[in-house]
Amino acid sequence: MHRNRRGGGRVRLAVACAATMGVLGPLIWLWQDSLLPEAYSVADMGYADYGGGPPGSSGHEAHSGGGASGHGRQAEAGRDVTRLIADADLPADVAVTMVARKQRFQLPSGRAFEGYTLNGQSPGPVIKATKGQLVQVRLINESVPGGVTLHWHGVDVPNAADGVAGVTQDAVGIGKEFTYRFVADQAGTFWYHSHQMSHEQVRGGLLGALVVEPAPRRTAGTGEVTDVVALAHLYNGVRTVNGLEGDVRVEVPPGARARVRLINTEYGVMPAWVSGAPYRLAAVDGTEINGPAPVQDKAVGVAAGGRADIEVTMPEDGSPVRVHLGGPTGVVLGSKSYDAPPVSRPAATLDLLTYGTRAPLAFDPGKPDRRFQYDMGRRPGFLDGVPGLWWTINGRLYPDVPMFHVAEGDVVRMRIANNSGEAHPMHLHGHHAVVLSRGGVPATGSPWWVDSLEVGVGESYEIAFVADNPGVWMDHCHNLPHASEGLTAHLMYEGVTTPFTVGGPAGNEPE
Ligand code: C2O
Ligand code: CU
Repeated sequence: MHRNRRGGGRVRLAVACAATMGVLGPLIWLWQDSLLPEAYSVADMGYADYGGGPPGSSGHEAHSGGGASGHGRQAEAGRDVTRLIADADLPADVAVTMVARKQRFQLPSGRAFEGYTLNGQSPGPVIKATKGQLVQVRLINESVPGGVTLHWHGVDVPNAADGVAGVTQDAVGIGKEFTYRFVADQAGTFWYHSHQMSHEQVRGGLLGALVVEPAPRRTAGTGEVTDVVALAHLYNGVRTVNGLEGDVRVEVPPGARARVRLINTEYGVMPAWVSGAPYRLAAVDGTEINGPAPVQDKAVGVAAGGRADIEVTMPEDGSPVRVHLGGPTGVVLGSKSYDAPPVSRPAATLDLLTYGTRAPLAFDPGKPDRRFQYDMGRRPGFLDGVPGLWWTINGRLYPDVPMFHVAEGDVVRMRIANNSGEAHPMHLHGHHAVVLSRGGVPATGSPWWVDSLEVGVGESYEIAFVADNPGVWMDHCHNLPHASEGLTAHLMYEGVTTPFTVGGPAGNEPE
């Protein structure tokens, strides 16, 4: 697999221009220095950032370039990511087989689309589990060139099940298979997608919804709640909900409650709003909001990769309710009638910094073991030999970006700042983080737990999390082309190693 995959024409042009300015020498050096090796371990890339904590014993050297990686690390009683798995003795409660194909297929709307399917459809089947159940998914690649994986977005799975090609597994080539096993220990709305050439395969439809329902409660008096999955995706620029181009109609009796699980699989923030009744924002990124008050005349911004669960109580008179997803189409809840004309987006957006009521956290973010900075910028340079205006992390271009080192049990604080001129939905794998502040203004609402956080232009967020899930975890922008343009870093636990490489014989290309 040749990693130097971007066009040569721009290189030649840039070189010619540079020569006339007499700066050819340094440019050639920069160009050559940016070339990525045929295969490299993400554990060796960039520079070590210990966030003020102890360097630990993993022996990671700053920018080792491959040479220093040998002895020290191997000799450690380190854990290989392939050993970070769910209890092998647990039987599967939910067992699914997924066959991935590249094909021309019909969306549920009837429109034909050239892309990827899982079990013949896109979006792939909705996977449903109950909290505490072991989910087992056997992925078979029938015909996707370049290989596939499945990543469980927002589920804090054991690292070996994270589905990142080149980090936690090899891409699954045609005719091969891989089995994912994890306990669904958090009830909520999640989704799955390929994490091999993800910017191309996710756009092409290799994705689906995953819903984890709470363990059955026997509280008297709580009526049935109608559960609706609403996965938004653009196929060739056509906006769909669950693959449908028009409205998704769901019957909900007058006075009854419905939970609409919005999933934004797109690259930008998706505004959602409701007409016909007030709503509550019941959950964000798979975590319940504490004390969500009724909302009216305000939209919710769902970050790329993020989820928002909207709860509505149907009007007693049987009139319908429309949940708008990014535009006029959406989900119409009704019984006698579904005649709910779209209304325009409210001017105001719900601010999660103040929404809901406070609740204590199970850890103290005031006494962190590590403090990290994830500063996003942009500057001209070379990325894998290609000149361009590339994203930077802490001023550096990929792959010379920080490797955030933690030890299990650490309380971690991270400041994410965006001075890059474009918004970035930031996604940390394997963990949920709580938002402490935005622009220095402390959060005063419900604990706001995220796995996908929209960081707007000029914004900065302070987040905190507990390092309680050992592994090597991506921390990247979920505007997936941005990730492939260098907006990707990793979080690495002391003593954990990975045998996988980006590139190499499996052609791993996680972004
Ligand atoms: Cu939804 Cu790294 O991915
Ligand atoms: Cu981005």
